[in-house]
Amino acid sequence: MERILVTGAFGQIGSELVPALRERYGAERVVASDLRMPPAGSPADDGPFEHLDCTHQRQIQEVVRRYKVGTIYHLASLLSAIGEERPQVAWDVNMGGLYRMLEVARQHRCALFFPSSIGAFGPTTPHDHTPQDTLQRPTTIYGVAKVAGELLCDYYAQRFGVDTRGLRLPGIISHVAPPGGGTTDYAIDLFYQALRDRHYTCFLGPDTCLEMMYMPDAVRAMIEVMEADPTRLRYRNAFNVTAMSFTPAQLAEEVRRHVPDFVIDYRVDPVRQAIADSWPDSLDDTAARTEWGWAPAFDLRTMTRDMLAQIRAKMPEAR
Ligand SMILES: NC(=O)c1ccc[n+]([C@@H]2O[C@H](COP(=O)([O-])OP(=O)(O)OC[C@H]3O[C@@H](n4cnc5c(N)ncnc54)[C@H](O)[C@@H]3O)[C@@H](O)[C@H]2O)c1
Repeated sequence: MERILVTGAFGQIGSELVPALRERYGAERVVASDLRMPPAGSPADDGPFEHLDCTHQRQIQEVVRRYKVGTIYHLASLLSAIGEERPQVAWDVNMGGLYRMLEVARQHRCALFFPSSIGAFGPTTPHDHTPQDTLQRPTTIYGVAKVAGELLCDYYAQRFGVDTRGLRLPGIISHVAPPGGGTTDYAIDLFYQALRDRHYTCFLGPDTCLEMMYMPDAVRAMIEVMEADPTRLRYRNAFNVTAMSFTPAQLAEEVRRHVPDFVIDYRVDPVRQAIADSWPDSLDDTAARTEWGWAPAFDLRTMTRDMLAQIRAKMPEAR
């Protein structure tokens, strides 16, 4: 029985991907791993967990061999805003980690999922309806590592026949685990503070348009692309996927439909604003739609309604 290994399992995405994979394939078949030890009530509780540093090839090899891993979801990474604080560490973890995971995948014939990002685009990329194949000259270390990672995954597929697949994910909105220090984190913080304080100070300007997706769609996309019929995949790696694009002002307006006294103001953080300004306003995800049937279920309106309901249900102080 081949198992699935998830790295970075206690991050924002892994905290919801691991339970979804366990529900689909069985708890014992999904090995959660992270550099951090499991937080209380984490997804590691109902299945195997391994403490694993993705930059240590021997550790990865040992876990892959011991559990007979057939598929790796490689989520471990430093996000865009954190990456700019520590660019050298971000390169080591994001690029060094991926290279080592790919080497182990090659040696043990594992399939590998790599989450790229809208951060793989830059200021010279066409911002509206960004095509699947386009200019990619990002200006962050996070983006540089994502572009290099997309290329390295393509190389391992062509040169060694490793079944690498991936998505260019937009900002992911969720309510289970906190976001890890990205540029789109405002779209999560805003919900909590709207319900708790009726007030949010946004670190991006009101008209900063970015691509976003609700976590249930993101998790489904990651599972569907790995289950897709390989004969239909022309791109394999780095599929553009999207669900909605909006500005902080538009999100605030949507939240105000449910929380009428909510007030937003703005104190722009120049570092994160510069990153956001270099990213696309909207993506063309035709390749994902035609090659493996991608279709999001949530838009701004349905995501907002669900986020507010979920946060109200878990936080008594949120009204
Ligand atoms: N969250 C988003 O909006 C978003 C958008 C696009 C792409 N992505 C990509 O998806 C992946 C997961 O993102 P996330 O938001 O869950 O990130 P996160 O920051 O919330 O979690 C990352 C996890 O990786 C772990 N980690 C860090 N260094 C490690 C190492 N050396 N070895 C093992 N684990 C290590 C951390 O402990 C953390 O639990 C990343 O590759 C990210 O670039 C995320």
